[in-house]
Amino acid sequence: MTSDGLRTQPVDSLRPEDAAVELERLAGEIAAHDDRYYRDDAPEISDADYDALRQRNAAIEARYPNLIRKDSPSNKVGAAPAEGFAKVTHSVPMLSLGNAFSEEDVADFLDRVRRFLSLPADEVVEVMAEPKIDGLSVSARYEAGKFVMAATRGDGREGENITENLRTLGDLPETIIAKDLLGGGIPDVLEVRGEVYMAKSDFQALNDRQAAEGAKVFANPRNAAAGSLRQKDPAVTAARPLRVFFYSWGEVSEVSWETQAEFYEKLTEWGFQTNSRARLCRSLDEIMAAYSNTETERASLDYDIDGMVYKVNRLDWQGRLGQVSRAPRWATAHKFAAEKATTVLEKITVQVGRTGVLTPVANLTPVTVGGVVVGRATLHNEDYIAEKDIREGDTVIIQRAGDVIPQVVEVVPDKRPQGAQAFVMPETCPECGSIAIREEGEAAKRCTGGLICPAQAVERLKHFVSRDAFDIEGLGAKNIESFWGEGWLKSPADIFDVETLTGRLDGREGWKEKSIENLKRAIEDRREIGLDRFVYALGIPQVGQATARLLARTYGSWTALKASMADAQDRESEAYADLIDIDQIGPSVADDLLGFFAEDHNQEVLRQLEAALDIQDMEVADTSGSPVAGKTVVFTGSLETMGRSEAKAKAESLGAKVSGSVSKKTDYVVAGPGAGSKLKKAEELGVAVLTEEEWADLVS
Ligand code: IVH
Repeated sequence: MTSDGLRTQPVDSLRPEDAAVELERLAGEIAAHDDRYYRDDAPEISDADYDALRQRNAAIEARYPNLIRKDSPSNKVGAAPAEGFAKVTHSVPMLSLGNAFSEEDVADFLDRVRRFLSLPADEVVEVMAEPKIDGLSVSARYEAGKFVMAATRGDGREGENITENLRTLGDLPETIIAKDLLGGGIPDVLEVRGEVYMAKSDFQALNDRQAAEGAKVFANPRNAAAGSLRQKDPAVTAARPLRVFFYSWGEVSEVSWETQAEFYEKLTEWGFQTNSRARLCRSLDEIMAAYSNTETERASLDYDIDGMVYKVNRLDWQGRLGQVSRAPRWATAHKFAAEKATTVLEKITVQVGRTGVLTPVANLTPVTVGGVVVGRATLHNEDYIAEKDIREGDTVIIQRAGDVIPQVVEVVPDKRPQGAQAFVMPETCPECGSIAIREEGEAAKRCTGGLICPAQAVERLKHFVSRDAFDIEGLGAKNIESFWGEGWLKSPADIFDVETLTGRLDGREGWKEKSIENLKRAIEDRREIGLDRFVYALGIPQVGQATARLLARTYGSWTALKASMADAQDRESEAYADLIDIDQIGPSVADDLLGFFAEDHNQEVLRQLEAALDIQDMEVADTSGSPVAGKTVVFTGSLETMGRSEAKAKAESLGAKVSGSVSKKTDYVVAGPGAGSKLKKAEELGVAVLTEEEWADLVS
């Protein structure tokens, strides 16, 4: 029989050998139509005809399951992963950026770079100035020139596997173009990173279409891009007009470029989209010119940008500069001025946060700012309100910058209604009635209700499950509030009494067997948790992610951390001295930390959590081969081959502790020209004194 005849033969009468031929043909044909449809946006057959092909394929597979092909269309597009997205660990973390808001901040950034690298005054620091695309960052991995995997940024260390979704983007080369004009070849492993976005015009058209169909309308292009990319069914992503600009890299087997500018050229040569507005600048003036030119063009561009990103061009310098916390020292983001709008402040209410801080909130007549409808804005604290004389009924100007909470920036005085009263902060907590006090030197009033204040408790729980903490899928802020309201969750440990918690959901509106099962699994998955996330989740005042990570890295294990906190309750102890010796932890953070650990109720919750969880030790960088691991070093005088911060960063990366003052515990003092009292003290105490050169020899 001819293959044309086979095409129309009823499935029931196909012999196995014919079925195999048909399945092969269908796989090829459906894949070709997929390409036309998803990648080229130019389908050649009607949806009905396409569906008929897939149905025939499925029917043959059902009849001859042993003939199902590896490349079967039923395994591809349309076959959404059953549960969310798989997690992917980034082999090179995806960093975020520090911010600059003014020319002065940019000048500071350049100064810091110069100082760190100890550059002579006449040395030019080339900086790549690129528009900061307002989208979602992604990482796309190529092996032997072929696209193999893509992930979202996630928390920077772990993202979601969105390979099949990203594959549907027309901007994304499936294979890297093999020409090699610039030399250096194509790295065997190449992770390119960039920003997925939706053009403003496409966004408008999509929203019009969605509205006509009664489907979800997106607030702005960024949300539309995010919503479209994180679809469980890649076919939905494929139907959305997403694009991508690439601008950096992750894991790369051989780096054959020496500058950011050169990397841009490579990207273009390999077939990736880059932003044509990136400029190489040689001075602060040139950077500021690039900034204002781009800001002027901003409204006329067909994609949203929210600032500029400046990157030190030389890779060797980038390497020396390294990173602090999760942002590179060699780059910064310079934000454009926030977008503003005018509206009416209808009422001022007071919100109670996780640590008891009372925050006045402006309830506004909803208004659109930068594409987002805003109904509430923060008023920070009572001083802010008094200083700007903000009153209920006032017409106010609000602004919204990026993902930051909108704020009220000023009042339009001419429009004040008669009789508008000045706002007075309540003397008691609006949630629990406890006295609210304002400590000397603080701007915020705090509820003193502590553990009895329901608002604080529920905020603490929300924090506990939030994305950078336990990140329990299916247990977001809304569920926490409702479970709290039911009295099912009182302390974080109640979450891990999984059977009791999920048992209560049976028959509850909005919960089905499947979603209860999913929640159970999501909680079970989180019994194993990294020490840094755990510490952050506790919601200790002043202990954000960076500090939590610092503590985790310093103490290594939960047992060690807890024991040290107990010892450090004695402010004369060595444990206390060690604690405040940690760079970036001062007496004030130490007070909050120790206060938390001293509290009986907290100890009880910690005991329950310990019993329910497996808190993972922190991997401490292997400095076992380092001659200075565990040693305390003091740098003094001027250093000639490196800046003070670079010296400090290097020493710390080798496991040494860098201290600002000399004591008996100091192991080395590295003294450069001009060293004074610290050198003298070292000599008195008999501490080893090294020249910069001797230090370099020791650590090399
Ligand atoms: S570079 C280590 N370049 O901004 C380098 N980021 O605030 C990290 N972004 O997570 C990123 N445009 O999502 C870089 N031209 C650009 C960018 C850009 C937008 C985003 C990116 C990043 C965030 C940091």
